[in-house]
Amino acid sequence: MLSYLANPATEIAGTVKVPGDKSISHRSLMLGGIAEGVSEVRGFLESEDCLSTLAAMQALGVPIERPAPQVARVRGVGLRGLRAASRALDMGNSGTAMRLMTGLLAGQAFDSRLVGDSSLMKRPMERVAVPLRLMGAQIATAAGKPPVRIDGVRELTGIHYDLPVASAQVKSAVLLAGLYARGETTVVEPAVTRDHTERMLLGFGAEVMASQGTVRLQPGASLSACSLEVPGDFSSAAFFIVAACLAARGTFTLTNVGVNPTRTGLLDILGRMGADLTLINHRSAGAEPVADIEVTASRLRGIEVPAGLVPLAIDEFPALFVAAACADGETLITGAQELRVKESDRIAVMAEGLATLGIETEVLPDGLRIRGRPQRQAFGGGTVDTHGDHRIAMSFAIASLRSSAPIDIRDTANVATSFPGFVDLSRSCGLDVTEVGGGP
Ligand code: S3P
Repeated sequence: MLSYLANPATEIAGTVKVPGDKSISHRSLMLGGIAEGVSEVRGFLESEDCLSTLAAMQALGVPIERPAPQVARVRGVGLRGLRAASRALDMGNSGTAMRLMTGLLAGQAFDSRLVGDSSLMKRPMERVAVPLRLMGAQIATAAGKPPVRIDGVRELTGIHYDLPVASAQVKSAVLLAGLYARGETTVVEPAVTRDHTERMLLGFGAEVMASQGTVRLQPGASLSACSLEVPGDFSSAAFFIVAACLAARGTFTLTNVGVNPTRTGLLDILGRMGADLTLINHRSAGAEPVADIEVTASRLRGIEVPAGLVPLAIDEFPALFVAAACADGETLITGAQELRVKESDRIAVMAEGLATLGIETEVLPDGLRIRGRPQRQAFGGGTVDTHGDHRIAMSFAIASLRSSAPIDIRDTANVATSFPGFVDLSRSCGLDVTEVGGGP
């Protein structure tokens, strides 16, 4: 089993560029695959999760070439051009891949079966199956979990769906199915979630309109191939943003980061905690805003995180919990029950790891209360178990900026699902993280 050994560090320095955005990379393969023509995707994230989507689209008959590093050339087969895969589609560790592919496959005339690794096989799938069945899809889950079986149908019917949970994955699955429906599909969100699907659908020429938490899609139009530039993944940048806040001194720069406002809740939260953050060089990569982010070592204070910011920072909570553990006073996070059904139960797993390092927390059904220790060596060392969750692994790696002894982080192989090269990049800017092990 792979582990990280993170020795105490005090500073990080320099300028880094994180790999491409995972959410956008998945979507570019799916929409490119059902468009007419060739879509070239630059800055494509070559992580295990996105490669699961790539292999699935290929198995469904979409030719995809990789002519250069971080480039995917997708030869779209058109809306009705996908073909039955000869075996189950393995979505690996990726909830996004499985849920969005379920939406894409719900309206096809052929049968499909989707499976995943041991973590994905435990994650809830009825949240996508329920609205898709309302559209006429034939979907079976195993007591709400994968495998997901989709039987071919002739046509779906558009629905008006009020999302019961703020989930971009569910919204996107319904919209992808809506491309194959008779009549309009409308999705209403209880809180704003990432809007990459809506932006990309527009770029591919779909008739989609989004305003004030309601997205409307008209089916029928064929999608036209387009070239895409994938920005750096804000969720990967987040580890270095928090790390730079925790460092003893200095300013750190992250270049070419996607700063779509539906993703950057962490910046608002850290700003309220007193972090010194500046966005410069604003520009756009197609439909997505991009900037460089400068972060200066900061003294953080504990806050109550406003519930409205939770969906906008949903993947950043493991890193934020580490920041809160280094802040003056208490930080309270509530309304974040979705964290319990991510790649691990991120509330329980982070509380367990923080306790190992000597941080007091109170576990709530929907969040965590964290008593911060602002001193330089806030954390002790010890062994923490990531439960196979990539973001837990990276969060404890950056905790080494405030630890007095080595942190042994167990079960880190899944960092490759979202952030290939994390260890090398971390070392290049001053963290003392080493990958160890490899046996079973
Ligand atoms: C994602 C949506 C979020 C997020 C996940 C990626 C997406 O999940 O946690 O990492 O690409 O749509 P939920 O929709 O379940 O909140």
